[in-house]
This record gives sequence, C-alpha cells and structure tokens, in this order.
Amino acid sequence: MPRNMSPTSPVLPWKVRILLACLTVGLYLVQRRNGTVNRPLVKLAHLKIPARNKPRKGVKTKDITIDATRNLWFRLFIPTNIPSNVVLPVIIFFHGGGFAFLSPDFKYYDRVCRRIASNTPVVIVSVNYRLSPEHRFPSQYDDGFDTLKFLDETKIDYFPANTDLSRCFLAGDSAGGNLAHHVACRAGEMEFRRLRVIGQISIQPFLGGEERTESEIRLEKGILVTLKRTDWMWKAFLSEGENRDHEAANVTGPRAVEISKVKYPETMVVVGGFDPLQDRQREFYEWLKRSGKEVKLLEYPNVIHAFYLFRKVPEASQFMEEIKEFVHNVSAKFTK
Ligand SMILES: *[C@@H]1O[C@H](CO)[C@@H](O)[C@H](O)[C@H]1NC(C)=O
Ligand SMILES: *[C@@H]1O[C@H](CO)[C@@H](O)[C@H](O)[C@H]1NC(C)=O
Ligand SMILES: *[C@@H]1O[C@H](CO)[C@@H](O)[C@H](O)[C@H]1NC(C)=O
Repeated sequence: MPRNMSPTSPVLPWKVRILLACLTVGLYLVQRRNGTVNRPLVKLAHLKIPARNKPRKGVKTKDITIDATRNLWFRLFIPTNIPSNVVLPVIIFFHGGGFAFLSPDFKYYDRVCRRIASNTPVVIVSVNYRLSPEHRFPSQYDDGFDTLKFLDETKIDYFPANTDLSRCFLAGDSAGGNLAHHVACRAGEMEFRRLRVIGQISIQPFLGGEERTESEIRLEKGILVTLKRTDWMWKAFLSEGENRDHEAANVTGPRAVEISKVKYPETMVVVGGFDPLQDRQREFYEWLKRSGKEVKLLEYPNVIHAFYLFRKVPEASQFMEEIKEFVHNVSAKFTK
C-alpha cells in the first residue's frame, strides 16, 4: 500500500476482532425490532465485575448508592499507593452503550477506569445512570447532573483526604460523551458549594442529526457503529415522535443550547478515523471553538469507535498518557 494512502480497514489484533464479533452478535440478539431491549438475555451475557476493597493494579473500588428508587449509584475508583501530599482531582465518568446498554461494573469499563485512576492518578466516579428505552431523555442527563449535586452536598467517607472536588473533570465515551456535554451545560448554570467542573474529556461522543454525514455514509457498515443501530438508539432514547435534530442529538443544530453564554469547561475531543461518527465530532469541536470555548482536538487516524477499551490496541495506551497530561495541564490552572 502506498504510504500516503490511508488503509481502508483498521488494523486490529485478532483477539480484539473476535471480541468485536461477539459484541456485534450480542447486540443483534438483544436489540429488538420493536424498539425494546431483551433485558433477561443481556443479564445472561453481562460480564460484570464486583467492587473490591482489596487493591488490584493499585486501585480499590466501592459502589455507592445515590438513589435506590431509580437504581442511581456509582462505582468509586481510588488509587492506592499515592503519597498523601499528592492532590487527587476527580473524574466523573459516563460509560457508553447508546444510552441503552452497559454499566460501570461491565468488565471493560471497570478495567479502563482502573487504568485511568492509577495512571493519572485521579479518583473516578463512574455513574450508573438509567437506560433507555425504559427510561428516555432526559432521565440520563438528570441522573448525571444529580450525581454532581450529590458529590457536592454529601460527605463521603470513602474519598481519600487528598481528593480535590474543586478540580472535577467530566468524561465519557460514546453516549457517555454526549451525556457529559449535556451535564456540563447544566453545571455551567449552577453554583456548587465545593465541586467545580474544570475540564471535560469527550471520547468519541455519540451525536446525531437527520442529515447523514459523509463519514456515516462511507463507513456505513462500520464496526459496532452502523446507521441502522444508531437510528435504533436515538429512537429508543428520544421521546416518542421526536427526530434526530432534537437538541440532545444534534447538539450543534438550531435547537442547541446557546453555549457562548454558558460557563463551559476546557475540553478535549477525541476522534477516531474509522468511526462513522467522526464528522459530527469534528463539527462539535468546531462549534465549541466558534462559541469561544477552550477546546483541543485529538485525532487517532487508525482507530475504531470504542478503541480505548481494548488494551491490545496500541493507541489505547497512548491515550492514557494524553488523559494524564490533559488532567495535569488543566488542574495546574486552578488553585484552591
Ligand atoms: C416487543 O417484543 C417483545 C418480544 O417479542 C415483546 O415481549 C414486547 O411486549 C414487545 N413490546 C412492545 C412495546 O411492543
Ligand atoms: C442539525 O440540524 C440542522 C437543522 O435541522 C441541519 O441543517 C443539520 O444538518 C443538522 N446537523 C446534522 C449533523 O445532522
Ligand atoms: C499540555 O501542555 C503542554 C504545554 O503547554 C502542551 O504542549 C500539551 O499539548 C498539553 N497536553 C494536553 C494533552 O493538553
């Protein structure tokens, strides 16, 4: 292949390929045509890891309930072996899964949060928000925002003494990236007592719109993300009768929040060259820039959607270092 030509399909380790094939079959089986999810079947296949107080890879975990009536809880990731004079920022993390699937105790999310927590180091709050279609827009955003309020108002004994809530980052991938953005907008209009959102890590956010973009058409039969599947996800998430130009999906469209007047955290947008959603994510980046926000674009030309969940993908390790740098850079701008 000539050097200046980009490959037409991503280079992936065979173990990752097998895993992706299993996930694809799994999704095919649980996403019903009538817009519902086969939850009993999801339960059977769900690879869950319990919280463990005994540190593993330098991190211990604990599940904390916010509101049992709506099953709102988070998994706390605490790096151990950190000198007590080192200040720990907090990352409030929203997992992906098209608003309809997965949870903080899903094996791959548990693993990636552990990795980020020890490598950066930071305390991570990984949120278990409600899922669609049983719970539609704006339940997920409400749960995200209520988590911030809970952290602001509640004394949580499990937080190490050197945790700094005035250096909070919102982070999320895919639907979680969408969620982080909307929570950031709400947080911008709110004065917290202790908590302060200073940064956002927007990892391949799930964004939509009625009009198809060039990358969506070119990568239509993509890995994990296909038009058929994303259309299904939006339908399950948005209220009955809504379309994808809703402000939740088309965040840069005419119905979008007027963001230039909202306090918005410094942001890093992460884009993959084999992700059908990439055009929308670059548009999101441009829109933030036009709105006068501090934003940086991080491009990985050879990666698929959700690449960073797979340790065997080399860019996943590079990305861990970028998160570390971003958190350090932004944290340094804020003193207590
Ligand atoms: C969707 O299909 C499933 C399985 O066929 C059925 O149990 C469920 O009641 C249907 N739901 C709706 C809203 O049509
Ligand atoms: C967002 O909405 C506007 C107005 O409906 C539309 O012109 C634009 O194409 C949409 N953006 C995307 C990416 O679909
Ligand atoms: C962190 O700051 C350095 C120095 O200003 C800059 O070169 C680097 O790109 C920044 N990294 C990130 C991930 O923001």
